[in-house]
Amino acid sequence: MKKRVLITQHIPETGIRLLEKQFDLVYHDVRQPVQTERLISSCPDADALLCLLSDKITSDFISRLPDLKVIANYAVGVNNIDLHAAKNRKILVCNTPDVLTHATADLALGLLLAVTRQLIPADQFCRRGEFKGWASDLFAGFGLQGKQCGIIGMGKIGTAFAERVKVLGMKVVYSNRNVSGSADSACTFVSLDELIQTSDVVSIHAPLTTETRGIMNLERFLAMKPGSVFLNTGRGELVDEGALVQVLKTGHLFGAGLDVFEREPEIHQDLLSLNNVVLAPHIGSATIETREKMAIMAAQAICDVLNGLTPTNLVLFS
Ligand code: GLV
Ligand code: GLV
Repeated sequence: MKKRVLITQHIPETGIRLLEKQFDLVYHDVRQPVQTERLISSCPDADALLCLLSDKITSDFISRLPDLKVIANYAVGVNNIDLHAAKNRKILVCNTPDVLTHATADLALGLLLAVTRQLIPADQFCRRGEFKGWASDLFAGFGLQGKQCGIIGMGKIGTAFAERVKVLGMKVVYSNRNVSGSADSACTFVSLDELIQTSDVVSIHAPLTTETRGIMNLERFLAMKPGSVFLNTGRGELVDEGALVQVLKTGHLFGAGLDVFEREPEIHQDLLSLNNVVLAPHIGSATIETREKMAIMAAQAICDVLNGLTPTNLVLFS
């Protein structure tokens, strides 16, 4: 009998094609999370699960799929999965690192430029027909040359973002659990407090864990330099969104660029009316090329595990 794969939501066709050659698929080809009971009852004997970051794979969910051997998350972040429950059942967890590094760093750069040069309000100004002539202070923004960018979480994405801002003439400092193996010598390792107090731009790229949840709280936002910029392309729950709203409203921060939200897909109501914020709907890895590579990578991990091979993208955790 063929092994069975439960796919929780739509993914690019390339991943489906790879899986359907070998396995029976239960494919929920939809673009919103399916209710847990429906998912489980659609394939209670699943050998493999391919899920998205918006699916909450809890310990209860895992315990109700007794044949499960592998969970392939269509994301690099795995905070949506109860890793300990998976480990206790000896279920392997795989993610999609590397293939989304550059796409995500590009989006962070896009947010940085959009915020500092007020591109969204400037675009709206043009469309409203308000551009009546060049003026020396029209949309005068925030220059980046010679300023300091502080990167919280210097993994692959943080490192790729550092490479981009160095091209803009920014100096880079970073904080991380340990000195980063991927950062080059031009990036200085500092404490989180020093990073926050001295940087003109703070960009967070850390994974969401119990240690990093809410790491950007009101105290830390207030400790940021007046007139500085905050970027989040990691996870919304790294940030106390209410605190961020507060420092944006008072003008303590020049602005913020956000691709992720604390209660995603819900967005704090007050962010919607602030014009010093640029908002994106969690599209860091959303290029056609990257999303296809992610589909192949997640599907290949399932093929590997169900064929007794070790996948390249196994998530290792203690
Ligand atoms: C996206 O947020 C990811 O973790 O891949
Ligand atoms: C993980 O978030 C990474 O930096 O690759």
